[in-house]
Amino acid sequence: MAPTRVQYVAESRPQTIPLEFVRPVEERPINTTFNDDIGLGRQIPVIDMCSLEAPELREKTFKEIARASKEWGIFQVINHAISPSLFESLETVGKQFFQLPQEEKEAYACTGEDGSFTGYGTKLACTTDGRQGWSDFFFHMLWPPSLRDFSKWPQKPSSYIEVTEEYSNRILGVLNKLLSALSISLELQESALKDALGGENLEMELKINYYPTCPQPEVAFGVVPHTDMSALTILKPNDVPGLQVWKDDKWITAHYVPNALIIHIGDQIQILSNGKFKSVLHRSLVNKEKVRMSWPVFCSPPLDTVIGPLKELIDDSNPPLYNAKTYREYKHRKINKLGQ
Ligand code: SIN
Ligand code: FE2
Repeated sequence: MAPTRVQYVAESRPQTIPLEFVRPVEERPINTTFNDDIGLGRQIPVIDMCSLEAPELREKTFKEIARASKEWGIFQVINHAISPSLFESLETVGKQFFQLPQEEKEAYACTGEDGSFTGYGTKLACTTDGRQGWSDFFFHMLWPPSLRDFSKWPQKPSSYIEVTEEYSNRILGVLNKLLSALSISLELQESALKDALGGENLEMELKINYYPTCPQPEVAFGVVPHTDMSALTILKPNDVPGLQVWKDDKWITAHYVPNALIIHIGDQIQILSNGKFKSVLHRSLVNKEKVRMSWPVFCSPPLDTVIGPLKELIDDSNPPLYNAKTYREYKHRKINKLGQ
């Protein structure tokens, strides 16, 4: 029997959602969302990447990036050189995949057998923490080319592979620029973060989050609160807002900025920067009328890379705040809640 997928729970049009999706009262979005969305609320900073190329604006932009990474752990970027038409194609092929009949999607079901989350799934199918979010996903490796296996990417629609390969090339360009800018913002050599993350062996994985319409969005989450294990996550949302970030003891909803990418600082950059930059706590909400989708690309070091605070950032008044360990060990400890 096929596992329960949230998409099909939603399509059966229940009046109320099954209990495993209902959050305890004190966690529910309706009781924990405090921001006003009408202009007075604080907004995630938006950085114009074009300014990184303009000699008179560069310094100011590095400062903005440093500030956003310290105070928020998240920012949106515009003018990053990915075209609106490529975003449109990415959204189209992702949507078309989720519109395939269930049996066709199940051919890619994530089994978790090889220790990876590759394939089509629903969080509970791969993990056992029992906290069910209102979402299904597709997950696969994007980069480096030697590690990606096109046979595990959706074969339908037929343009999926071509579009997604092109997207991975473009995202790599954005990632390289961001890692340079973040290094300079930490007053390090431009290549410092990329080198520490494995250089050309740095890995990228794509997740497509599919959040069906939900009859009770006020009591459910799409994805429960967490920080990302990655170094950086580069996320493209569709136009249905839902991402919330924790800032000054409040959950703030990310506004939809057309054609922007949302950059999350992940745990590995928090560690490398010895806590100067912070890994953002975030969650996602779902919507009563509209399907929400998002496309995070997780940028991470190869599993055997040892990650600890960069020695350039350590001195007598800045002792290391984190233990160095391989990314493999970090992931294992985080997934199994063993503490770091
Ligand atoms: C996630 O953090 O896994 C999802 C965030 C989003 O969908 O915006
Ligand atoms: Fe996340």
